[in-house]
Amino acid sequence: MGFAKFKGCFVLVFFVGFLVGSVSGIGVNWGTQSTHPLPPSTVVKMLKDNGIQKVKLFDADSDILEALKKSGIQVMVGIPNDMLYTLANSLQAAEKWVSKNISAHLSSGGVDIRYIAVGNEPFLSTYNGTFESTTLPALQNIQSALIKSGLGNQVKVTVPMNADVYLSASDKPSDGDFRPDIHDLMLQIVKFLSQNNAPFTVNIYPFISLYSDANFPVDFAFFDGFQTPINDNGRIYDNVLDANHDTLVWALQKNGFGNMPIIVGEIGWPTDGDHNANIKYAQRFNQGFMSRLLAGKGTPIRPGPIDAYLFSLIDEDGKSIQPGNFERHWGMFYYDGKPKYLLNLGTRTNSLVGASGVAYLPKKWCVLKPSANLNSDQVAPSVSYACQNADCTSLGYGTSCGGLDVRGNLSYAFNSYYQVNDQIDSACKFPGLSVVTDNDPSTPNCKFIIMIQTDSAYYFRNWRRIWSLPMMVFVFLFLNIM
Ligand SMILES: *[C@@H]1O[C@H](CO)[C@@H](O)[C@H](O)[C@H]1NC(C)=O
Ligand SMILES: *[C@@H]1O[C@H](CO)[C@@H](O)[C@H](O)[C@H]1NC(C)=O
Ligand SMILES: *[C@@H]1O[C@H](CO)[C@@H](O)[C@H](O)[C@H]1NC(C)=O
Repeated sequence: MGFAKFKGCFVLVFFVGFLVGSVSGIGVNWGTQSTHPLPPSTVVKMLKDNGIQKVKLFDADSDILEALKKSGIQVMVGIPNDMLYTLANSLQAAEKWVSKNISAHLSSGGVDIRYIAVGNEPFLSTYNGTFESTTLPALQNIQSALIKSGLGNQVKVTVPMNADVYLSASDKPSDGDFRPDIHDLMLQIVKFLSQNNAPFTVNIYPFISLYSDANFPVDFAFFDGFQTPINDNGRIYDNVLDANHDTLVWALQKNGFGNMPIIVGEIGWPTDGDHNANIKYAQRFNQGFMSRLLAGKGTPIRPGPIDAYLFSLIDEDGKSIQPGNFERHWGMFYYDGKPKYLLNLGTRTNSLVGASGVAYLPKKWCVLKPSANLNSDQVAPSVSYACQNADCTSLGYGTSCGGLDVRGNLSYAFNSYYQVNDQIDSACKFPGLSVVTDNDPSTPNCKFIIMIQTDSAYYFRNWRRIWSLPMMVFVFLFLNIM
């Protein structure tokens, strides 16, 4: 009887925890590495129109935080990796960061900041261990600064990790543990998070599994069943998200932290830049994920709903394509805030609501001159310059513009450069090759974009545009001399 009573109590606590806990609705990542970002107020309206309750940022841009004020949206603020060294080595710097980027926004009556993401995937193997010695001390300093400013309970720290900080010795989640080379470091971080009631955050990318392994079974990346599921001592895994997530649960459990809350910091599917990155797959993945989430369905070990942030809200044409050409196409919305596909977020409508009041540049495109000589020795340097300084990630095998011929390819590159540079005349002066037209060169699959107007505040803060003008003058002088 006594035991039953205890059990009842436990169930009640569990339910209350579930209702008031952080698991409510869906979050999105709002990245800003765009040549022409939408104004923060426009994006906040999009978030609200789509019933999105949580947003994850990659820094602490004060204009963005200002726009989120009194929006009712919960915020995870980010600290970029390049600040970790300073924050690790100076408690004072951490106190300043918290005071300027957290306290100021909370006390002025308004931004609902819940988490600070200290670093972003700092143990990614491409960083060669650069952030291994600074991540934990930076985390500790930020936590101390939060406590000192009285925010220790209100705002929680976390570190968004790439999913390869843990692995399984077999295909079974139950063989999961932290990666041997960073095992001790991961334990120290997990222990610190646990001591401060903070969650573990992980970014999980079934798309990358498919991208990096030609033999990866496509259906295992999605949520509509898989012919040969993994049977892990009676737990059935028919999709890689569940298997990956529960590998982390096992890694935590094996090291004594089986109850640590987990946030999926990034999850999503890109729509261009690779033959597996397309609208059909992105919709299948994101809707499959959302439908599970809306049904309150979690993973075999943690059956409750997952706390997750979709990656991402809007395409970012200024991102590095070092990970792959798909990197600029993760958005549920295009650069201009137009929805890419139907998606039911379980909120107000069954389809995504686009940005309103977006102003475009005039309907003009820069294309290859019909009379251009393709044997000109200007062709190669022109296209490579345009692509390096604009965006040609929609060209190539299996992409949206992959069906263009050589002439179409050149036009696409020239137009991209022209639009990124706000249609200024000098951005359509590829020697003897280019001309401005008002006939839309788009094809049914391949969109030749018209860039959006950005306000002057953003214009001058944008590194790419500041550098591209003198660079362009230099290169054209150089090409003309040749
Ligand atoms: C606040 O955050 C911004 C954006 O990440 C950063 O540039 C700035 O240095 C931070 N302020 C302090 C005092 O650290
Ligand atoms: C990591 O190491 C590789 C190979 O040594 C090198 O090419 C790359 O630039 C390094 N990356 C960083 C971020 O240091
Ligand atoms: C168009 O450009 C892409 C990317 O540079 C290239 O992969 C493709 O082969 C080109 N197509 C033609 C027909 O030249």
